[in-house]
Amino acid sequence: MLEKISKWMQKSEPVSLDQRGIDLSRVPSHVAVIMDGNGRWAKKRGLPRIAGHQAGMKKVIEITRAADELGVKVLTLYAFSTENWKRPPEEVEFLMKLPQEFLGSELNELIEKNIQVRMLGDESQLPAYTTKAVKTAMEKTRDNTGMVLNFALNYGSRAELIDAVKQIALDIKNQQISSEEINESLMESYLLTKEYPDPDLLIRTSGELRLSNFMLWQLAYSELFFTDVLWPDFKRENFYEAIREYQNRSRRFGALK
Ligand code: IPE
Ligand code: IPE
Ligand code: MG
Repeated sequence: MLEKISKWMQKSEPVSLDQRGIDLSRVPSHVAVIMDGNGRWAKKRGLPRIAGHQAGMKKVIEITRAADELGVKVLTLYAFSTENWKRPPEEVEFLMKLPQEFLGSELNELIEKNIQVRMLGDESQLPAYTTKAVKTAMEKTRDNTGMVLNFALNYGSRAELIDAVKQIALDIKNQQISSEEINESLMESYLLTKEYPDPDLLIRTSGELRLSNFMLWQLAYSELFFTDVLWPDFKRENFYEAIREYQNRSRRFGALK
């Protein structure tokens, strides 16, 4: 019996993050994730694609916990792109119901963890039940001061840039700004990400090596981490691997170092 207990204790003893090779003083402030591969995960198991989305949803809380514990400041998750409307309506509907389901079961933990829920994207085309779930979560976590958990929902970088350009043109026309004032920081102030630093690290799962219209401006100098692991198989340990890899990179931003 005693032996059993001591074995159990050994097993459950938490391994500290520095023992996992993560330098806690150099954790990326903003991590963005393209959560891809749900459909292929389901197909491999002979299941419908939506089963993959369901399994993928479970990973959102696991990776949120991992990021929060590491001290990440902003975690942006690409959940639905402006191009994903091209999918069959049943799949789109299922995806649109996931925020409600996710927040229904996890919001209390997010509140407890002092996490701030936010959304990035055009909410005007989303069904009312989706916006309602997200808005309620944003409202309930508004005064929190911890990690920002940002869902990119109906997000497309080109649409974001076009909206920014239109708004700048309008503000020039209304003489709120002059064209001479246009520079990088002004441009950034018109983007949906204006409150956040650019992602330090982008993770894309499922082996696809592209950005799929995600944060084209903001990722200009981010470190990119691609893995073949499908999103529903992506574990805490895979997240740590991405962080370790990030910490081994040398970021030069065009200068010599
Ligand atoms: C990512 O998984 C989820 C969304 C894009 C909404 P996919 O549904 O793209 O899965 P694959 O790429 O077909 O395997
Ligand atoms: C990108 O994945 C969008 C999300 C993960 C939400 P897609 O599966 O839509 O990207 P493509 O079509 O393979 O480029
Ligand atoms: Mg995909």
